[in-house]
Amino acid sequence: MASRNESKAMGALTQLESEGLGTGSAIWLKLDLLDPRAVKKAAEEFIGREERLDILVNNAAMMMGVQGSFEKTEDGISAMFSTNYIGPFVFTRTLLPLLTKTCQGGGSDVRIVNVTSASHMALPTVRFRDLNDFNRDFKERIYPSFDRYAHSKLPGLLISRELQNRLDADNVPIIVVAVHPGTVNTFAHRMPFPKLSEWLLRTFASSPDEGSWTSLFAAASPIVLAESGEYKGSYLMPVGKISKGSKQAQSPELAKELWASTEIFLQDIKV
Ligand SMILES: NC(=O)c1ccc[n+]([C@@H]2O[C@H](COP(=O)([O-])OP(=O)(O)OC[C@H]3O[C@@H](n4cnc5c(N)ncnc54)[C@H](OP(=O)(O)O)[C@@H]3O)[C@@H](O)[C@H]2O)c1
Repeated sequence: MASRNESKAMGALTQLESEGLGTGSAIWLKLDLLDPRAVKKAAEEFIGREERLDILVNNAAMMMGVQGSFEKTEDGISAMFSTNYIGPFVFTRTLLPLLTKTCQGGGSDVRIVNVTSASHMALPTVRFRDLNDFNRDFKERIYPSFDRYAHSKLPGLLISRELQNRLDADNVPIIVVAVHPGTVNTFAHRMPFPKLSEWLLRTFASSPDEGSWTSLFAAASPIVLAESGEYKGSYLMPVGKISKGSKQAQSPELAKELWASTEIFLQDIKV
């Protein structure tokens, strides 16, 4: 379980152990997605420690209303874009050799799940040519913080399809799936009237438990492997329904542009 906060991680692990983990065990890996260098180091630490990696779920994200989400990192990139897209990209890219190795020997079922968001549907037209595009602030729009969040989640869809195409071309049988978990009651504490918001959200949002269902389906359902032709590079809405996403989320040109600019950015910062 990769996460940044040790005490929260230990609390979660204790809970998992008390609920019963079967024959397995859960171990914490420190991962702060904000800094691409730290992300690469964490992935390398994992590779040094483990022989295989069957399922990678990129779930963590900086949400709207989180302090610091409008700030830029020392690399001059928006903290939200770095956490929600660049970090998971570097983590996945660094772990890819181990994921690929895990496919060898037959009978494997290796998957990458990118948790993204249906908020991308509301975005205006965007480009990903360079750092300026990555840092778009949407100040001209009615709700800039919403657009900035959506803009940091759109790459999850684009890159999932592009990565799937690249893996298919190399005959690597990894399944890549992008997921929208639904509107999930996890953010009331960041809203103006937390108690009231919690109560309101309960009336229409999923519980955190239900919010995990589509990610779990993508990560572990035997259906996804049995019908991999359908699910490879797909985008799933709750619960496990194959969807399309916005028109620009389906654009191979935009995905290629994003991938190329990401590689250039990472080269520039020497990651
Ligand atoms: N909730 C919704 O309605 C909704 C809707 C669409 C999509 N999603 C997506 O679902 C996923 C889970 O969201 P959630 O609702 O569970 O949000 P959440 O309760 O705010 O959880 C986000 C998690 O991301 C972690 N995180 C934030 N910044 C990080 C960083 N720099 N490095 C490592 N971990 C970091 C947080 O860690 P700390 O505990 O240390 O803060 C937290 O555990 C996200 O990808 C989100 O975009 C959620």
